[in-house]
Amino acid sequence: MYRLTCVNCGESYRPDEIIYTCRSCGHLLAVEYDLDSITVQREVWNHRPLSVWRYRELLPVTIPPVTLHEGGTPLYHLERIGKEIGLPHLYAKHEGMNPTGSFKDRGMTVGVSMALQLGKTTVACASTGNTSASLAAYAAKAGIPAVVLLPAGKVALGKVAQALMHGAKVISIRGNFDRALEMTQELCLSHGLYLLNSINPFRLEGQKTIGFEAVDQLGEVPDRLVLPVGNAGNISAVHKGLSELLALGFIDRLPMMTGIQAAGSSPVVRAIRQGLPEVVPERSPETIATAIRIGAPVNAEKALAAIRKTGGTAEMVTDEEILAMQRDLARKEGIGVEPASAASVAGVRKLTEAGVIDRTERVVCVVTGHLLKDPETVIRQCEAPTEIDADLRSLLSVLQSS
Ligand SMILES: Cc1ncc(COP(=O)(O)O)c(C=O)c1O
Ligand SMILES: [Zn+2]
Repeated sequence: MYRLTCVNCGESYRPDEIIYTCRSCGHLLAVEYDLDSITVQREVWNHRPLSVWRYRELLPVTIPPVTLHEGGTPLYHLERIGKEIGLPHLYAKHEGMNPTGSFKDRGMTVGVSMALQLGKTTVACASTGNTSASLAAYAAKAGIPAVVLLPAGKVALGKVAQALMHGAKVISIRGNFDRALEMTQELCLSHGLYLLNSINPFRLEGQKTIGFEAVDQLGEVPDRLVLPVGNAGNISAVHKGLSELLALGFIDRLPMMTGIQAAGSSPVVRAIRQGLPEVVPERSPETIATAIRIGAPVNAEKALAAIRKTGGTAEMVTDEEILAMQRDLARKEGIGVEPASAASVAGVRKLTEAGVIDRTERVVCVVTGHLLKDPETVIRQCEAPTEIDADLRSLLSVLQSS
């Protein structure tokens, strides 16, 4: 049992209403469960496979879900990088191991299931890439059409390839992500398409399971959870989920929620540093980490609260720091992630060096998307393969010279 509640004025709405923001005050909505009616025991969860649907009692879907087997992603101990940074308990939850290669699949299995549950027949989103790839795949699985709006020229190749191949109607706009989202919202409200950006509170319900899994895999609540922040949905979702576990008595404290942004696209960091009640949008955000190239994060209100309530923080990292950590993760840990994902670990390095993160902390970084999402940025950083004649002498000579 649940309803939709405004995070600002507390107004509540029936769960079957198609509504994305509060009619009274325009603020964000959240799914609010009647926690007294949730009687599941943790033991029951522990006996199910690690996945989004392990936690189904805390999800809004009542029909058989549209699923591609999302979640159950690995939690890696970053031994080498942790040693270098001086943080022995550093972990990465590799969300790139989801069906379409990013954490968005957790949101889409729930979001597209909700679209069907609510009787909607077409879904839409604006995207920096991963949302469109995921929506396209889940719409394909559900057998319904999807429309996706992308900022022209600013989406990594692998993500566009996925959206196209899974059969979405892919539209590139001559504008940035923030404008694409405004247009998608207008389209959905005026023409009845179902909006599956992270302003949709049901999508965040799926994403909150990252935190549930991290706790289950670590066997305890991490001291700190670190996420890259773009539209600020994921950090909000993980905080909301863990707050529910706390209210249910399944855990006894919350991790310090910590958000990392790219230096050229850092409205949340500035709001936290300056103690502002809300973010000041950036007009022209810019970063190599195109997934988080967002100047007006729609979930900022929830994210600021999550960071402040848990004693967390927000930090920015340069594109150089992001790329250096992308290479370190790949070469020292065997973990292939896209640039935005490396931002979380790069931020941890910076915060540890600055003494903000204590070296005894157990820190879980969420690395959000797979290396293959953005092959162009990878290739640009690496030496080209050495081409030789097809004989052993040439092979040996090139090996000796390197
Ligand atoms: C790989 C990756 N990391 C991080 C983010 C940021 O997540 P959020 O927009 O929920 O803050 C995104 C969003 O597109 C993403 O694709
Ligand atoms: Zn309201």
